[in-house]
Amino acid sequence: MKAAMLVSTMSLCLISPVLLNAQKTDMKKFLWGVASASYQVEGAYQADGKGVSNWDVYTNTNHVTEEFTKDNQTGNVAINEYDRTQYLKDIALMKQLGVTSYRFSIAWVRLLPEGTGKVNEKGVQHYNQFLDDLKASGIEPMVTLFHWDLPQALQEKGGWLNPASVQWFEEYANLVFKRFGQKVKKFITFNEPYVDNFLITPMINNKINGIKPAFSFTSEQLAERATATHHLLLANATVIRDFHQKKMEGMIGITLSLSPTIPLNPDNPDDVKAAATQDGMHNRWFLDPLFKGKYPAEILAIYQQYNKNLQPSAADYALFAANKPDFLGINFYAPAYVSADTRFAFGVNGFGNNPDSVKMFNGPVRPAYLYKILMRLKNDYGNPVMIITENGAGFGEADDQLVNNTVNDALRIDYVRRHIDTALQAKKEGVNLQGYTLWSIFDNFEWVFGYSRRFGIVHVNFETQERIPKKSYYEYQKIIRFYQHK
Ligand code: NOJ
Repeated sequence: MKAAMLVSTMSLCLISPVLLNAQKTDMKKFLWGVASASYQVEGAYQADGKGVSNWDVYTNTNHVTEEFTKDNQTGNVAINEYDRTQYLKDIALMKQLGVTSYRFSIAWVRLLPEGTGKVNEKGVQHYNQFLDDLKASGIEPMVTLFHWDLPQALQEKGGWLNPASVQWFEEYANLVFKRFGQKVKKFITFNEPYVDNFLITPMINNKINGIKPAFSFTSEQLAERATATHHLLLANATVIRDFHQKKMEGMIGITLSLSPTIPLNPDNPDDVKAAATQDGMHNRWFLDPLFKGKYPAEILAIYQQYNKNLQPSAADYALFAANKPDFLGINFYAPAYVSADTRFAFGVNGFGNNPDSVKMFNGPVRPAYLYKILMRLKNDYGNPVMIITENGAGFGEADDQLVNNTVNDALRIDYVRRHIDTALQAKKEGVNLQGYTLWSIFDNFEWVFGYSRRFGIVHVNFETQERIPKKSYYEYQKIIRFYQHK
């Protein structure tokens, strides 16, 4: 821990003047942001005609957090962000922080309680008011259309496994464009389709079906999820096409969780092969169709071995190729040390290895791999406009203790500083990086982990809803000021 703190105090001093001068003009336009997602923060799960989402059911009926927390936890109240009195105070904290961008998601089920069809005007009104309030504070919205909370009515029709999901999403996205397009200039279609489809959904299905441990997946199970992601990618391309055909002002992109892979034992050819497969499944399965118009052949072949129905057509590939995202949102937390292991689906243990003694919730802390993935996007994927749409950390209770009304989250500070440094280094070397977004402004509902994992730079008392900025809040504020005023 001591070493980490030392690095954190040194880090800002290490930013070279050359780097600063070269980036001066560019850095003026650079977005500094924070992020959240509807189910994780809004609460108000039955307010104003909202319908029921899959996550309402997962938590209230299926008790999915019980696998990881002692009790059953839900997003019914979350951090009360739907409430205007509350969110006005929270926007004020963002303004004080100095961010120019706020990434949040719209709950589909607030606008279309049944997923399609009848519009709930009160839901529309809520987000309109929220967008106006954000604008009044001079913060630009970045809106995610789908951050994992699907209307339950559509879930019951098979969710993303149903080919009709392409049209469901198109209807919803076009409603959003029509109602909010004047106020929003940056849209994100999907958040982290890999994590949602290949980790969380199968885990929840296992929990519901009594399979233990919940994260033991079969190859057949994951190969079926590849079909869901195929529909999702078709939905993505369709909606990008619509956005451009309507000549909407602004940009539309998609956010991927990118996780470079490292063979656990580089001298073991089986680990090397497993790492390449995991890279193909996590990263290239999405990057290739998005930027090269087709799936990586060897990964498609693996999935097809277990799922004969996965047959992308020439028309699908043409749709991909013609409708690339205007920007790539990058969620980076950690690389993965991968080993060959027949106990895992496809013989690949993609997430079980973390050699760090103090473990970050989302994997080993290796900022150099953020640099590497950014350079790879520049060199192998045509250097698209990139925005880091999530980066942040949680390390467990010891780093998040409220003592004397403050939280000295030294490890989070160190993590954030080093990742910003390395990202800006890549930018200096020509990566088309246009923003950095920290996850998250507030502690919130961390999916199957409930309230047990804190990622915020503002501490939240989940009983009283009291907010207390952590040390990392003030450090991030300093970083933003430093780059804005240099
Ligand atoms: C990525 C997800 O988009 C977000 O919802 C989650 O809370 C963070 N990672 C932290 O795990």
